[in-house]
Amino acid sequence: GAPVKADISKLEVGQQMIVKWRGKPVWIVRRGPEALANLAKLDGSLADPKSEAPQQPVYIPHTAARSLREDIAVMVGICTHLGCSPTYRPELAPEDLGEEWVGGFYCPCHGSRFDLSGRVLKGVPAPTNLVIPPHFYESDNVIIVG
Ligand code: FES
Repeated sequence: GAPVKADISKLEVGQQMIVKWRGKPVWIVRRGPEALANLAKLDGSLADPKSEAPQQPVYIPHTAARSLREDIAVMVGICTHLGCSPTYRPELAPEDLGEEWVGGFYCPCHGSRFDLSGRVLKGVPAPTNLVIPPHFYESDNVIIVG
């Protein structure tokens, strides 16, 4: 498949956009300072906090932000359990997800939970973090996926 261009100039903090790449949804989320600070606190709740399983290109750092640019997350929006598409749930402590929830992605099929970097929480069916697709920045506001 051909690479896909994503223009993130209109993507505001807290927003998610979705582009299609090789028939798969690729999520792009702009994270604010609060979301980034929360990510850094989650290590103890995560199955693979340093993203050691091979779920990302080699040039993506193994940090909490798990991205080329801290404010922008890019990941394939397919649950690593059985392939459903998780739902973006950026809000803090919603009633259905509980007080500990600091924003992330929730898979409605069997309840897997991921943080805003796509790292999987402990104790859910999904075995690994979400996949990060190959991508790079053509300019400040244009990402090429693929
Ligand atoms: Fe997502 Fe099973 S497919 S939890």
